[in-house]
Amino acid sequence: MEMLDLGHKVHDETRQGEAFAPFENDVNQYTKKFYIESYGCAMNFSDSEIVASILNDEGFGATRNSDEADLILLNTCSIREKAEQTVRKRLTEFRKMKKAKPGMLVGVLGCMAERLKAKFLEEEKLVDLVVGPDAYRSLPGLIEEAESGQKGVNVLLSREETYADISPVRLDSNGVTAFVSITRGCNNMCSFCVVPFTRGRERSRDANSIVAEAQDLFDKGYKEVTLLGQNVDSYYWMDEQKDEIVTFAKLMEKVALISPDLRVRFSTSHPKDITDEVLHTMAKYENICKYIHLPIQSGNTRILQLMNRTYTREWYLTKVDRIKEIMPDCGISSDIIAGFCSETEEEHQDTLSAMEYSKYDYSYMFYYSERPGTLAERRYKDDVPLEVKKRRLAEIVEMQNKLSYESYQKDIGKTYKVLIEGESKKSDKEWKGRNSQNKMVVFPKGTFSYKKGDYVWVNVKDNTQGTLLGEIIEL
Ligand code: SAH
Ligand code: SF4
Ligand code: F3S
Repeated sequence: MEMLDLGHKVHDETRQGEAFAPFENDVNQYTKKFYIESYGCAMNFSDSEIVASILNDEGFGATRNSDEADLILLNTCSIREKAEQTVRKRLTEFRKMKKAKPGMLVGVLGCMAERLKAKFLEEEKLVDLVVGPDAYRSLPGLIEEAESGQKGVNVLLSREETYADISPVRLDSNGVTAFVSITRGCNNMCSFCVVPFTRGRERSRDANSIVAEAQDLFDKGYKEVTLLGQNVDSYYWMDEQKDEIVTFAKLMEKVALISPDLRVRFSTSHPKDITDEVLHTMAKYENICKYIHLPIQSGNTRILQLMNRTYTREWYLTKVDRIKEIMPDCGISSDIIAGFCSETEEEHQDTLSAMEYSKYDYSYMFYYSERPGTLAERRYKDDVPLEVKKRRLAEIVEMQNKLSYESYQKDIGKTYKVLIEGESKKSDKEWKGRNSQNKMVVFPKGTFSYKKGDYVWVNVKDNTQGTLLGEIIEL
């Protein structure tokens, strides 16, 4: 399994349903050890940091080595069938380990735990704990029960839980970029999506606790926070003491005002909710990154309606125009699903042309995977043959490759402010970091004495697939 390279990578991997590698904290101060592996989206990653905090308080220290763990946790994803299969495979490996070490506990957290509930215990005999995303506070009690031989399940979803008061333990951090969760759950009910069922109703976290967490990160030397939610633009919180309504735009502004040296990013935006207020706030603050992940899913209005996305092709494309109008240099990326129920060849072509129009810098692309219990599973037939889905996906990927190539080529000759996240993977003589538009930039350290967490100006000379190559310039 690949080590997690925090920041950009997490996001990449998540979308592929891959895992991130576990982390380690000072284990000597703890009596027991836990090992955690996360699958799925950045929300799961962020939740694992909350779980780590809860477990530290119970005397469990984190280890990178599953062999020495007393407790093994898998924070799971249900978004596509493949994501679940990956977890099942991983469980077979832990089954072998448990045979050799019977006292070891295995727990399943996250979206698969929520979806399968107690059924998990029947299907996977080695599992001792099944704990859903809103029930992590009950982990200590459940672990205690499991230690005495009783299997534990808590998959209660909550209308209030935001873990606002828990200080996440940063996992395998680069010390420069961090996630801060701002909403939990989702109310959108896109017909293909399992998230509303695994994560429950949408709720917004106390704005003061968000700003305090971001301030604390900045005080500790972090330079970038990504505000996380399934649909960040629907953030809404009322500060009763100050008699103030905090919208997503307001929240972003509050975080941006912590310091001009703290970059602010966010993920994900549902196209229906991204307002002019948000776009103008982004434009107003240099440290709010000019990058929006704006999943289109399909470029055809009939399919969008079946998907329950609540916008049309034209409405989406107008949103793209509006973004470019207010922020001409804004990067845009997307999520796309190929072969949704009843999609015709012409409708698939509409997706390709919408991609071309939007000129995405990059996209996360999938073929439709029917999920039990979703609206689409109940209402529509999953009738596009697998070969057709795969072929359409390949065409979408090919289109995106062309668009990415054009987008990266266009940057050659430009100069960008880059936040150094660490050494490049290939060489310790090179730095890597991202520009405001979220593109990875790699450049030689040269004779300059910059360090991780510094901002530098880089002139782009060349590009490879998905990376800009440049040189430091002093302004
Ligand atoms: N809240 C985010 C999406 C989270 S899931 C948003 O609305 O943008 C990430 C992506 O997985 C989705 O955008 C979608 O493209 C994809 N996805 C979700 N369910 C899927 C399914 N059943 N089959 C294939 N792809 C799916
Ligand atoms: Fe799923 Fe739609 Fe909610 Fe995103 S907005 S998590 S795709 S239901
Ligand atoms: Fe997967 Fe749950 Fe995230 S289904 S994508 S881990 S919200």
